[in-house]
Amino acid sequence: MTGVQRPIGLFDSGFGGLTVARAVIDLLPGEDVVYIGDTGRYPFGDKPIDDVRRYARELAWSLVVDHNCKAVVVACNTAAAALPIHELEAELAAAGHSIPVIGVIEPGAHALVRATRTGSIGVIGTIGTINTGAYDRAVSRAAYGATVQLTSAACPGFVEFVERGRTTGPEVTLLAERLLAPIRDAKVDALLLGCTHYPFLARTISEVLGDDVMLVSSADETAFALRELLLERGLLRSDERTGSTRFLSSGDVNWFETLGRRLLGPELEAVELWNGPTREIS
Ligand code: DGL
Repeated sequence: MTGVQRPIGLFDSGFGGLTVARAVIDLLPGEDVVYIGDTGRYPFGDKPIDDVRRYARELAWSLVVDHNCKAVVVACNTAAAALPIHELEAELAAAGHSIPVIGVIEPGAHALVRATRTGSIGVIGTIGTINTGAYDRAVSRAAYGATVQLTSAACPGFVEFVERGRTTGPEVTLLAERLLAPIRDAKVDALLLGCTHYPFLARTISEVLGDDVMLVSSADETAFALRELLLERGLLRSDERTGSTRFLSSGDVNWFETLGRRLLGPELEAVELWNGPTREIS
């Protein structure tokens, strides 16, 4: 298999990264895709940063070594905040795997800065993501010196609702009203969903914040950035074909299949068990 023909690998703690997988499949339909959802160890958002770093490295290594991926998409903000993309890319390159690695934070921050008219913007994410300050840094880089006012809020509990398949309903609304209060008070005009699970809650979030707040998801931006990167490195497939998809989960594979198909769509046909990387990582 040539470099170009190898699959694109994505990972997340669970179902959230499927929002990014959907965008990648839609934008690059000829590419083969391998997705690992680490549902056996989710949620990442409230775990110690060193644990999340280890999980992220194991997931990335498995995609590269076990699945021969030509690029890795860290489809999880918490993982990308804990283990910066350039660190992961350098680690893989040092071991002889010089492949592009891309996260969701930079593409999301750029989309957020582009979306605002007033300069008052918000980001919501897991406790882990918000606490690292990764978005404060990414937004200030993306703003190129322009004045923007960023309000951040952690939303513990959102991910758990999505993982249980509960994306709407009075309980979700109640939690959203409480957690989004600082965002509403800051009168932002654009809000980045800084956790890949959150687009599944977009309807509720939008109802709580009102139509004047534009919701920005990093999924499409990440897919566009991935396409650029693959093109630059001569790794983009140009043949007319429909790519294959492969899904793995470290938790209940039957549940991943049921909920995953509902969330991603018909491409999610079967789910295999992921037992961790087949090779010990140092
Ligand atoms: N979907 C993930 C993110 O983007 C992580 C959610 C979690 O496991 O807490 O942050």
